[in-house]
Amino acid sequence: MNRTVVIKLGGATIERGRVVEELAGDLHDMPSVFSIIVHGGGSEIGRYLKILGKKFTFVKGLRVTDEDTVEIVEMVLSGKMNKQLVARLQRCGVKALGVSGKDMGLLRAKKYMQDGEDIGFVGEIAEVDTTLFDMCAAYGVVPVVSPISFGDNGETFNVNADHAALDVARAVACDDMVFISDVEGIYRANGEIIRHLTPSLADQLMASGEITGGMIPKVISALDCLEHGVKRARIITWKGPGTLQKELAGDESLFGTLVSSE
Ligand SMILES: Nc1ncnc2c1ncn2[C@@H]1O[C@H](COP(=O)(O)OP(=O)(O)O)[C@@H](O)[C@H]1O
Ligand SMILES: [Mg+2]
Repeated sequence: MNRTVVIKLGGATIERGRVVEELAGDLHDMPSVFSIIVHGGGSEIGRYLKILGKKFTFVKGLRVTDEDTVEIVEMVLSGKMNKQLVARLQRCGVKALGVSGKDMGLLRAKKYMQDGEDIGFVGEIAEVDTTLFDMCAAYGVVPVVSPISFGDNGETFNVNADHAALDVARAVACDDMVFISDVEGIYRANGEIIRHLTPSLADQLMASGEITGGMIPKVISALDCLEHGVKRARIITWKGPGTLQKELAGDESLFGTLVSSE
């Protein structure tokens, strides 16, 4: 393996058409790249919370999570979504190992405070144990990570998948980090797609309210990983077979926004 890539797959993207199967084709075609997938749950979590009669809100793109909610989030993310993703990759000939942050102590979490506000069992990653990734890299296995993790007192934390992907990227010191989402990059209020996002422009757009909701943790994570050794971060949408391969081949972003420090 001569290159490591951390891929964050958004929940809506997983549910869209054949994205996972096409991604499997790309992974298959890049045998020298060690890929780590971190996934979200998006609308499936919302759907099950509704079925079970749980009301929920978001604060700056993060789900406020009480004790019942975190149980449901874990069932959907580490159970349903994670295993479905593994099954789909396996069927396409990609050796995939589905884990959550709890397995082998991969991700240790602690309570995350949103601007000083307690939003429940929402965690941030305190430590990443990369042993599992080393094992996977040695055997050509793609780890598929649900971001649900343990806290020090055995509590379960719902960690935003963008945040978890960032910590994984930092821990493995990968060159590339790719957020695959349902939008064609970051757009401005006038609808224009930004091909290059710099830290100063990001701050400006978050302050002006042009970047909101689920895009905030993505942008913050992308900026943060650049400060910690990751060379390139991208926020892209899936555009058919070869998307990842073509995107990784160049220094520009073909399918979304490249976040870079200058
Ligand atoms: N400036 C922006 N450019 C693109 N998307 C934005 C922007 N501001 C907010 N968003 C929202 O962020 C969403 C992506 O985040 P999210 O729904 O959490 O996706 P994912 O499941 O991939 O994490 C988009 O669907 C869009 O509604
Ligand atoms: Mg999201």
